Amino acid sequence: MGVKRPKVSIVGAGNVGHSTAHWLASKELADIVLVDIIEGMPQGKALDLQQAGPIEGLDVRIVGSNSYEETAGSDIVVIVAGVPRKPGMTREQLLETNASIVRSVTEQAVKYSPNCILLVVTNPLDAMTYLAYKVSGFPAHRVMGQSGALDSTRFRTFIAMEAGVSVEDVQALVIGAHTDKDMVPLPRFSTIGGVPLDVFLPPERIQAIVARTRRGGAEIVELLKTGSAFFAPGAAVTQMVEAILKDKRRLIPTCAYLNGEYGEKDVCIGVPAIIGGNGIERIVELPLNEEELQAFRNSVGVIREQINQLKAFL
Ligand code: NAI
Ligand code: 2OP
Repeated sequence: MGVKRPKVSIVGAGNVGHSTAHWLASKELADIVLVDIIEGMPQGKALDLQQAGPIEGLDVRIVGSNSYEETAGSDIVVIVAGVPRKPGMTREQLLETNASIVRSVTEQAVKYSPNCILLVVTNPLDAMTYLAYKVSGFPAHRVMGQSGALDSTRFRTFIAMEAGVSVEDVQALVIGAHTDKDMVPLPRFSTIGGVPLDVFLPPERIQAIVARTRRGGAEIVELLKTGSAFFAPGAAVTQMVEAILKDKRRLIPTCAYLNGEYGEKDVCIGVPAIIGGNGIERIVELPLNEEELQAFRNSVGVIREQINQLKAFL
């Protein structure tokens, strides 16, 4: 019996798709299939990345395609097809365009990989994760969205920059909706090497970092002007893929379907979760204080409004 390498398909070979492929390949985590509707583009990017293999010593197979046959039997399908936002746009304004894309991608992905884990990246993230969950018919532990891994790495970066410490020692948590206004960074659950943040930073600096984290995606959109972030998003997806493929059981803030956790049902939102070989192994319920709980509930309300707009696609 030969040992087979895991297989990860990435649907949407644009900026985040190819950045994810790059990080995945650089860690030799899996064979990779890149799918896109643009003829030749996923094939070209796959071949280009494959040709970095001899230099980097990477024995993974990377192929591109405009159809789904190549994705058959994937362990994980990353859904990152869709339109990114431009300056002045919110992620929520992408809802209708991206909902029809995510619906059709999910149908195709699960047809060819009925046992896979779906990892949604397309925005508006929480609503798109909910849509993929409903359309796939998969159990909730096999459908998740990438949001908090990115928002938390931004929070960690800004904390390290302000405190003048290594990013390695900063742990930080962001839950709630993946929107500029409604995400919930949690300074009380963030530390530098286990030491509370307020030992290093005054309250007004912590509040400034929280505000910058909420607008972390928008800050990059304003700088780039042509689209949104992709290096850190690709790394965030890769962190989740690695946790699954290596059954690491890492605690990663993840967009998950709630069925009573935090007192909420039938909604997908960012919560801390243990990510391992089965996907979402467990949702971790934090002892939130009144203010944090209020912010989380407000986030849930915003996502429920988005989900209401999804009716035509469910
Ligand atoms: P991009 O425009 O560079 O790439 C999107 C790709 O999707 C394009 O190549 C396009 O041809 C392809 N596509 C469109 N419809 C398709 C279909 N039906 N099947 C297959 N491919 C299709 O955009 P980028 O920057 O890669 O962003 C992609 C999505 O990810 C956007 O919705 C963006 O808002 C979201 N995003 C989410 C993040 C998160 O943290 N959840 C972080 C960064 C981006
Ligand atoms: C980001 O946060 C646009 O969701 C994307 O960069």
